[in-house]
Amino acid sequence: MKKFLALILALVMVMGLVACGSNEAPATEAPKADAPAADAPVADAPEAPAEEQVGEGKVVGIAMPTQSSERWINDGANMKSQLEALGYEVILQYAEDDVQQQVSQIENFVAQQVDCLVIAAVDSGALTSVEAQAKAAGIPIIAYDRLLMDTDAVSYYASFDNEGVGRAIGEYIETAKDLANTTETYTIEFFMGSPDDNNAVLLHKGVMSVLQKYLDNGTLVCKTGRTSFEDTCILRWSQETAQQWCENYLAAYYADEDLDIACTAFDGFAYGCRSALESAGYVVGENWPLITGQDAELMATKNIISGHQTMSIYKDTRLLAEKCVTMVNAVLTGSEPEINDTTTYDNNVMVVPSYLCTPVAVDVSNYEEIIIGGGYYTAEQLAG
Ligand code: BGC
Repeated sequence: MKKFLALILALVMVMGLVACGSNEAPATEAPKADAPAADAPVADAPEAPAEEQVGEGKVVGIAMPTQSSERWINDGANMKSQLEALGYEVILQYAEDDVQQQVSQIENFVAQQVDCLVIAAVDSGALTSVEAQAKAAGIPIIAYDRLLMDTDAVSYYASFDNEGVGRAIGEYIETAKDLANTTETYTIEFFMGSPDDNNAVLLHKGVMSVLQKYLDNGTLVCKTGRTSFEDTCILRWSQETAQQWCENYLAAYYADEDLDIACTAFDGFAYGCRSALESAGYVVGENWPLITGQDAELMATKNIISGHQTMSIYKDTRLLAEKCVTMVNAVLTGSEPEINDTTTYDNNVMVVPSYLCTPVAVDVSNYEEIIIGGGYYTAEQLAG
């Protein structure tokens, strides 16, 4: 009887998982997780010959944070196609930035006894108990893009150099405004990432490693006085909050003087600032500020071409997916993946062996070479 009940329970859990999977994408708002959008970067699915079907019979559960931002849709689609090309079965789920939803998705993956988990966390601090369950069940975990904090259950971490992303944003502003030599002063406001995302903390550190000295010597003036991470972080990377903050700042502090620089950590924030600036009457080519972003999303790249955003950080999600796939293969076949950092990513319990890809700053001067030349978006996609 006990066995029968356990079987029924397992069936119910698996059905729950299937049900969750089926409503993973509200069709009207975002493309389905497993159907890359027509405007998504062209995925390089490796065409594995039959003898390289190392994944045959194995299931990988991928937990992604949200489909509200294009990059995660691309990450999921790239990983799915690359893993499937190696014979793995892939279950890809999005939590739509809902912490509890992600916890249940991973619980279901564990109940279903997937062979490996890939997690890009909504709030990594909320996952420690389900990660312990996975470890107890012998399921290895790869942290994808965002470090999994406070756990010993993670095998590897694939990401970009996150402090390097911040440094590249800071250096872009430094060069564009010639901060080291100018006698001008420039107003600046900061829109930083989510406090529950380790990447956001590192990005702010990288930005300030370049810009703090110019705030200190008065070349940069932050009229709200909000420069610390605590004062500038935006929960769940919300575009709406960034827009609201920008509207408030412009109304309260920039009635008599224009904002010169919006230092934002994410393309979504740049879109929010764009709306706020348009409502406040700013005009491209006249008093439009320098606006930074991250991810080089399709819309951001179009905004760079039209002058509504100045730069973004190009992070090739195809490459990141490829690195992650090598880590999945390694944990499942007992091989060693390529690692290039064994010191930086301390999650408070362990230093997680990592592969860090290199971020690249893109603007109107190099997007053709980097974005189109790299096959990330076609000229047609950018023109559309
Ligand atoms: C990623 C960024 C992304 C942000 C918002 C971060 O963890 O590293 O690439 O812009 O999340 O989705």
